[in-house]
Amino acid sequence: MKNVISEKLSILNQSHLLKHIKELPESEQSGLINQLETLDFSVLHETGAEEKRGHMEPLYAATLADIEKNRETYRKTGIEAIRNGKVGAVLLAGGQGSRLGFNKPKGMFNIGVNRELYIFECLINNLLDVVRETGTWIPLFIMTSTDNDRDTREFLEEHNYFGYSSDNVMFFVQEQLPTVDTNGKLMLADRGTVSTAPNGNGGWYASMVKSGVLKSLKKADIEWLNVFAVDNVLQRMVDPCFIGAIIESGRQCGAKVVAKAAPDERVGVMCLEDGKPSIVEYYEMTDEMRTRREEDGTLSYNWGVILNYVFRTDKLNDILGMHLPLHRAFKKIKYLDENGNIVIPEEPNAYKFETLVLDMVKLQDSCLAYEVEREKEFAPVKNKEGVDSVDTARELLKLNGVEI
Ligand code: UTP
Repeated sequence: MKNVISEKLSILNQSHLLKHIKELPESEQSGLINQLETLDFSVLHETGAEEKRGHMEPLYAATLADIEKNRETYRKTGIEAIRNGKVGAVLLAGGQGSRLGFNKPKGMFNIGVNRELYIFECLINNLLDVVRETGTWIPLFIMTSTDNDRDTREFLEEHNYFGYSSDNVMFFVQEQLPTVDTNGKLMLADRGTVSTAPNGNGGWYASMVKSGVLKSLKKADIEWLNVFAVDNVLQRMVDPCFIGAIIESGRQCGAKVVAKAAPDERVGVMCLEDGKPSIVEYYEMTDEMRTRREEDGTLSYNWGVILNYVFRTDKLNDILGMHLPLHRAFKKIKYLDENGNIVIPEEPNAYKFETLVLDMVKLQDSCLAYEVEREKEFAPVKNKEGVDSVDTARELLKLNGVEI
């Protein structure tokens, strides 16, 4: 098998990965060979060129005013679905959180000032509101990655899941993809391991299926999955009114959105692309798209996504295995240099590859964009300071009456 691998690496111009193999004990040699056997080499063909986009048109949202008019109907429908065990929550917590610069899973970050208040705790508190409202424990699936799985599980266990029922918490680990340096070479993390990074948040459903947690999901007859980011401390998940609005609308999926703060705000925006729901990134928008307005003065491309989506499980099964574009991100990635020394770079040095959950929206026929109030539901903790940082999130928590 070693010879087959070595020939493959030679063809791919990646023979350096075996440079130190002879120095390793036998078990580590076979560990490296096993890793190479299953490694996804497709990243070597990724040039970073973004996929050509189709014809864009505005997609209109259910606005706060629209929702208010139908609130009771939506809420009733949503509560019924939740009580009937039709809805599950999927917390995406496999990211590396490199911008925050916290060396533990982001959910373990203490955002409290005068008391301990962890990001995971904020999310669970919000979900517990729905548990109380519906009298139902909602299955909570937590996606971790190879690097943070153990810390995440231990932390939540130590804190008794912040009051959530542990029977209703299920973990699964996402896949990894190799990282590539600026010369197109795969990297070694140490002598016996090829450097890999989590494959982005778009792989969540495939990883969920692969892990087998889906079996418990099937048993529970879940029809809708609400998938959301770990880093929004005001995140309202499995919101009965949102769930009910999607069901009533007959659409295949739903996305919580906020009105853009300004035409040039750096946020992905919901739109129609070739007639299908889609998300256009801020840097992909033309000036005309950025500034175009409706008759009433609102921006035509007004609805920024906040990484809170609801998908139908049968539709997710239909798209399982379909190609999602790989996006590459230039990051600081630790590696083993030619002399066998581990280097921790201070500047970005290599690419990691990710599929994104927002690209799953495009594979659905229809999507309900559902407006929520930014100040009440959107407080992302992305950066150490400045925009979307610990400080801005703390202010928003206070504004919402959360003691910090
Ligand atoms: P981000 O895009 O903010 O990525 O993730 P990140 O890796 O957490 O942070 P940076 O870019 O290194 O600073 C948005 C959401 O998607 C999850 C994150 O945990 C967060 O909830 N995510 C991201 C995953 O679950 N897996 C991934 O591979 C990437």
